[in-house]
Amino acid sequence: KNHLATGLPLSKKKVLITAGPTHEAIDPVRFLGNRATGSMGFELAERAADLGAEVILITGPTTLELANKTIALIRVTSAEEMYLAVHTHFEKMHVVISAAAVADYRPKTVAEQKIKKKGDGDLNLELERTKDILKSMGEIKTNQFLVGFALETENELDNAKNKLQKKNLDAIVLNSLQDKGAGFGQGTNKVTFIDKNLNVNAFDLKTKSEVAIDIWQEIISLSNA
Ligand code: CTP
Ligand code: CA
Repeated sequence: KNHLATGLPLSKKKVLITAGPTHEAIDPVRFLGNRATGSMGFELAERAADLGAEVILITGPTTLELANKTIALIRVTSAEEMYLAVHTHFEKMHVVISAAAVADYRPKTVAEQKIKKKGDGDLNLELERTKDILKSMGEIKTNQFLVGFALETENELDNAKNKLQKKNLDAIVLNSLQDKGAGFGQGTNKVTFIDKNLNVNAFDLKTKSEVAIDIWQEIISLSNA
């Protein structure tokens, strides 16, 4: 569609990226969430667009904005909403990267009214599992190149390899929290890229924009993208 994009490595490729945290409602004014900012997913989306891809970015709550206005941005709140948005587009995609920090649990019931304090006792919230969005894609994928992230604090490499296999992925990006400056809320990340043949490529600590470029280079060389 854009003749100027011809020759770029991802031109004519449809790419879907998930980003950000999810918020799981407790009552009309409260939620369970996490500290993800969405920046890794946003960088992956921007760099994919630079490389000529047609990009859809599905993000949980974040204050980030996109520089590239050709990227289709879909804003969602909960894991369930993200699941539905992802599956609206999944079948048509060539490459999918799951960078979102999806909540693993959500309150089993959402109170219709703001929960009021009762006496001086404790409050117990009952939680249920959310859908594993990435795993659900691995179960139905045909030719899509499917990439996950793994955040681990122990047995990093083994846990990441297990996730790669359990979710039927083509590759997984291990996010290391070991180095100072890496991870949530920082401008930098230290990642290790693992493909489905369990080839491991450990990158240095870099800006998230540089990390995104490294990830795309790996994907481009592995997929026939
Ligand atoms: N993921 C997802 N849907 C979920 C949970 C996780 O799509 N409900 C995706 C994440 O986007 C990430 C990958 O699965 O790409 C791994 O997420 P992570 O939290 O590291 O692993 P989990 O499988 O949730 O296992 P655990 O948190 O127990 O380590
Ligand atoms: Ca998890």
